[in-house]
Order: sequence, then structure tokens, then C-alpha cells
Amino acid sequence: MAKFAAESPRLWLQPLSLDHLEDFHAIMTDATGLKFSKPSPNIDDTKSLLQKWTPSPEKPWIDNYAIILRSNSHDEVKVKMIGTVGTVRVPQGLEDAAEVAYGIHSDFWGQGYASEALGMFVALYCADGRERLQGKKHLVAKIDPENPASERVVQKVGFEKGETVDGGYTRGGDEAGRDKSEYVWWVLKRS
Ligand SMILES: CC(C)(COP(=O)(O)OP(=O)(O)OC[C@H]1O[C@@H](n2cnc3c(N)ncnc32)[C@H](O)[C@@H]1OP(=O)(O)O)[C@@H](O)C(=O)NCCC(=O)NCCS
Repeated sequence: MAKFAAESPRLWLQPLSLDHLEDFHAIMTDATGLKFSKPSPNIDDTKSLLQKWTPSPEKPWIDNYAIILRSNSHDEVKVKMIGTVGTVRVPQGLEDAAEVAYGIHSDFWGQGYASEALGMFVALYCADGRERLQGKKHLVAKIDPENPASERVVQKVGFEKGETVDGGYTRGGDEAGRDKSEYVWWVLKRS
């Protein structure tokens, strides 16, 4: 596995790769966590998504990390991937920005891990990530207004509320028939 790109006392960020397939599949099939994201129907689809989200020379704006819970024991080989964080696309109409996405397995919600990991990612981006992302000036997050936990995560890291876009977002696990909902762009501007 590749080296860790960033660390905090509780977490490591490790460049996302096919080595993470098994844990990533557990996250992408976590029923509790999939109200706002699309569930993966099978391991092949998870693998395709993982490949899509893995950095490549053709898509330099993809800068994506596995969030790894550090072991409390001295044997730090025993680690657990609990989520992902990073940039996954250039949003249409916002060509000077890269879009961040993040998710944590529901077994680990409510312990500050998403905010901590996004903060670590933003620090990487401010250090040298902008060069890797070929000059993308801003980070943006597309957030469903019915996902207050996610709003809170970006707020804590310094993003500001931007434009609301009506009807352009498909809510992943929505079974109520509202397959298109509005979303809000949250923006972290850097000069
Ligand atoms: C959104 C998500 C990443 C949050 O992960 P997490 O590790 O639990 O987040 P954190 O613990 O860092 O922070 C959550 C914050 O939201 C708050 N929160 C949680 N549920 C809330 C609710 N229903 N209403 C208001 N605030 C809420 C928490 O209190 C916390 O804020 P605080 O630190 O000020 O108390 C996680 O729920 C998830 O993976 N959801 C599914 C995927 C997803 O929605 N991704 C985002 C798509 S852009």
C-alpha cells in the first residue's frame, strides 16, 4: 500500500487505490449511510467507482484519500479504513474549482472524523494540492439541504454557503419518489 499522505493523532489519509476495494465496498453498501449517496449494487460496480476516483494523469483534479483509523496498539499495521475524502470532479460551469466528496461508514459517525479528515485534506490542498490539481483555485461541495451533518462538516472546515441549484441532484437512497432535489454549493475560496 502507498504511504500515508497526512496524519493526525487519530487518522491517516492514504491515497485511494484498488488496495482499498474491500473496505470501500463496505462503505458503499452501508444501508444507513446511503440516503444521500448512491448505493453500489455489487463489487464490480464498487471497483469501477474506485477506479474512477483513483488519481490518474488524465484526471489530475482527482485527489482522493482513504480515511484510516489509526490503531491504538503499537502494531500500526492493524488499521481500519472508515471513509473517503478528496476531490472527485470538476463541476460543470465551475471550471476553476474542484468538487470535494466525503463519506464515513455509519459505524463511525458522530465522532468528528469527517470534519477532521476534510480539514486534513484542505491542509494538503493548501500545501501543494493546488499544483497537483492543476491550478483549481477553489474547493466546492455539493450538499443536500436535508443533510445537516454534511453542512456542519464543511462549515467547521471554513466553507461558506453559496448558490442553491434547483432539481439537479439525484438523492441516492430516496424511496419517496423525489428523485431530483435541490442542492447547495458550499465554497472554500483561496486567493
Ligand atoms: C456527513 C458525514 C460525512 C458526517 O460524518 P461524521 O464523521 O459523523 O461528521 P463529524 O462527526 O465530523 O461532524 C458532524 C457534525 O454534524 C452534526 N450533526 C450530525 N447530525 C446532525 C443533524 N441531524 N442536525 C444537525 N447537525 C448534525 C454533529 O453534531 C457534528 O457537528 P458538531 O461537531 O458541531 O457537533 C456522514 O454522516 C456520512 O458519511 N454520511 C453519508 C455520506 C454523505 O452524506 N456524504 C456527504 C455528501 S457531500
